Amino acid sequence: MEDLESLDGVGSAIATKLRTAGYTTIEAVAVTPPLEIMEKTNLGFNTVLKIQESARKMISADFKTAQEYYERRKSMRRCTTGCKKLDEILGGGIETQALTELIGEYGSGKTQICMMLSITAQLPYDKGGLEGRVAFIDTEGTFMPERVYQIASSMGLDPKDAAGNIFVARAYNSSHQCLLIDRLFMLCPENNIKLVVVDSMISHFRGEYIGRENLSDRQQKLNQYLHKLIRLSEAYNLAVVVTNQVQSNPASFFGGDPNRPAGGNIMAHACTHRVYLRKGSKGVRVARIIDSPYLPEREAYFMINEKGIVDAEVDK
Ligand code: GTP
Ligand code: MG
Repeated sequence: MEDLESLDGVGSAIATKLRTAGYTTIEAVAVTPPLEIMEKTNLGFNTVLKIQESARKMISADFKTAQEYYERRKSMRRCTTGCKKLDEILGGGIETQALTELIGEYGSGKTQICMMLSITAQLPYDKGGLEGRVAFIDTEGTFMPERVYQIASSMGLDPKDAAGNIFVARAYNSSHQCLLIDRLFMLCPENNIKLVVVDSMISHFRGEYIGRENLSDRQQKLNQYLHKLIRLSEAYNLAVVVTNQVQSNPASFFGGDPNRPAGGNIMAHACTHRVYLRKGSKGVRVARIIDSPYLPEREAYFMINEKGIVDAEVDK
């Protein structure tokens, strides 16, 4: 990876400012909105624009032909969920360079899938992993290290190693959560992180920005941070998984599912793939792709047991 100092107009003083603000790589400099870099570094507008122009040239973040775009997408990888049927409807697993959203009611398995992925992401490529480490932002205090030990052991991995490769942060409120997301631009490249989890993306926002008058503020902030996550996934070829709750939909009085994902259009548009989870009968759970640029709307059944996420024994 090239040093920041190789950018036009960046000497050691500016490089230090950028690094201190969390922009440690050329990719991070290239993909961050200029106003944000200005705010964090106190550098002037023209300086930032010049640095970014040079950064974008270096990572070729300019118009590309569809062929070049295709070549870049080939570096995209997929991470297994541990469940064949679920992998299948995901097109082979959770994608890097994309944001995958797990939506579901209480107990539907969102956190469990995230914990499972935190272990499978560490596996070698030929075992369906991403050969990387994991950053897990836990907003609800439901990340259980014991569960990591249990799943890793059942997969024949050293649980201590597996747990040692997962960086967990408990986010106490939405601004803390935002701060932690900003930190990822430094943490990810430094630690070969290939999976980022935010569980849940929205609960603090929903809890803190109450009432119609605060809705647009909330949505703006949410949008900003979802886009940061997208940039992170593209800059470092990593997978981002966020969870989301459902809220009851009064319109369902006229038919349809009584629940709909929280976060409105902002969540819907920012997330590349949306997976809706629900509880079926006899411990079987159902995952459904509900919004994806190219994955068909299919369903898969899975179960949660001591091994983690597994194929449902009896397909209903
Ligand atoms: P909320 O965060 O409350 O919205 O729910 P969630 O969608 O994150 O649910 P979560 O992933 O926490 O799923 C919880 C369910 O997983 C529990 O109701 C259990 O049925 C199941 N589960 C969790 N741990 C285990 C385990 O160790 N063994 C088995 N068999 N099931 C487990
Ligand atoms: Mg949960």
